[in-house]
Parts: sequence; C-alpha cells; structure tokens
Amino acid sequence: MKKEVKPELPEKKLPIGVIDSGVGGLSVLKWLQEKMPHEDFIYIGDTARCPYGNAHSEDEILEFSAQMIDTLGQKGVKAFVVACNTISMLGGENLRFGYELPVITMSLGTQILLNTSPTKKIGIMATPFTISKDLHRSAILAADASADVSVVGCPDFVPLIEGEKFGSLKLRMTITKYCKEFREKGVDTIILSCTHYPFIREEIEKEMGPGVHIVDPAEQTALDVMETLGKDLLKTEGAGKAKICCTADISRVRRLAERILDLKKCEFSEIKLVEL
Ligand code: DGL
Repeated sequence: MKKEVKPELPEKKLPIGVIDSGVGGLSVLKWLQEKMPHEDFIYIGDTARCPYGNAHSEDEILEFSAQMIDTLGQKGVKAFVVACNTISMLGGENLRFGYELPVITMSLGTQILLNTSPTKKIGIMATPFTISKDLHRSAILAADASADVSVVGCPDFVPLIEGEKFGSLKLRMTITKYCKEFREKGVDTIILSCTHYPFIREEIEKEMGPGVHIVDPAEQTALDVMETLGKDLLKTEGAGKAKICCTADISRVRRLAERILDLKKCEFSEIKLVEL
C-alpha cells in the first residue's frame, strides 16, 4: 500500500482513470465517453483476478484496488473513477491511497429509484460482497421508510458475463432464478448495482416483462464525475480516446467491449499492475 502522500494535483490535460475487477466498468466507460466526448480515459480491468465480489476478502479487494489505483497514478491521471460497485463499497476516501486526486465511486441510485418506482417496491441486484454491506437498501430506507426493498446477491452473473455466455440456457436459467423473488414480491423497479449486469440488461428486462423499470446507475455516476471535475478540469475540445488495459485475456476483453463501445475510440493492451 502507498506509504507516502503524493500530492499530485489534477491537470486538465490528463486522462481520467477508471478501474474495475474486469470488463464490467466498460458499461460505465460507455456513459463517461458519451457525457464527456473530449476526455481521454485509461481503463484498468483486473481480468486475471475477476470476480472480486464472490469470494475475495475486504483486505484482498483493498489490496487489488491499491494496485490498480497506483498503476493509474504512475501513468498520470486527473481523477479516479471506481467503475465497480464492489470496490465502491470500500468508500472513496479509503481508495485514495495517498493520491490528492478526486475519487468518484458508483452512484447508489437512491433518488432515481424512488423517482422511478410508482409502488416503491424496489429490487437490488449486486455481488454478494456489495449485498453484505447493505448500503443500497439502507440508503433507500433512510430516504423513504415506506419503501419495500428486495435484495438479491447474484454470484453466478459475473463469471457468465466474463465467460461470454450470452444467449445460453445457463444464463437464462440463472436470470430466472435471481428474478424469482422480484416477481413474487411484484417489484416495479430494479437497480443493476454491479457494473457487469448492463451486459445482460435486455435478458433481465425480458424476464421481468414490460412493466418493470431497470435502472443502471452508470449514467448518474458519469454526471457525478462531470460535476466533480467541473469546468476547470473538463476538456472542451478534441476527440477523446480510451486506453483499455487489462491484466489477462485482452482479445476476450475486446470482443466484450465491442458489444457496448465504439472501438474506433478505443485501444487495447494487456498490462501488469504495479507491485505494492
Ligand atoms: N463489476 C463489479 C461490480 O460492479 C464486480 C464484479 C466482481 O465481482 O468482480 O460490482
């Protein structure tokens, strides 16, 4: 872990750093690129050790995150976007690792959910680690104690998504299994509180039917990044690019990225994270 405080100050011309355990954060990168077309991004996905949210301890997730943040810090970025709900559960302040740069974590989506849901029957899908922290449910109840919140941990989703099992029977059955409680409770709004899940958003929508709203907190997260950087740090000209760096399987990452990103704006490379 970083020992000394490194007082790097954010500079407008630098790229924005983005981290996730794997390809999930690409669904956030999509919104970041859409909202901030002039910005450059460096994305790090730790595909070699993904998933983080099923079996790794909090200390391990913290250590892996420190390696990604430090790798970005050494490359030079103006902010860190934690495009992973699991890592975001550790709290932005704990993810600074000595850098004096803004850290933006995933939005909990509380207000969006309360505004979207007519009956206040709300479902949360996330990794077991995220669910264990109970932040999403508590925030909804703190804002509206009458809300009826159902929470489902979905450990099988990330391996199926990283494994490109789209359209498979296994994925369909897994979605049916995880949506069962939501159907029984009659939830009308579900938040995808894992950045991998937007890759299977259409399949979840199909399972739940037309009356159920699916919320992806990535758009709000991108707006939070814009607000944090403000006009002094946001670029206003030039066509932005994204460097997508992962710790394993870069051709698989490229195939997955192609599902949601414009590859003309992306470069791919396999990297090693810095040792701590
Ligand atoms: N994409 C990550 C999230 O948003 C988690 C995936 C994992 O378990 O590693 O929670």
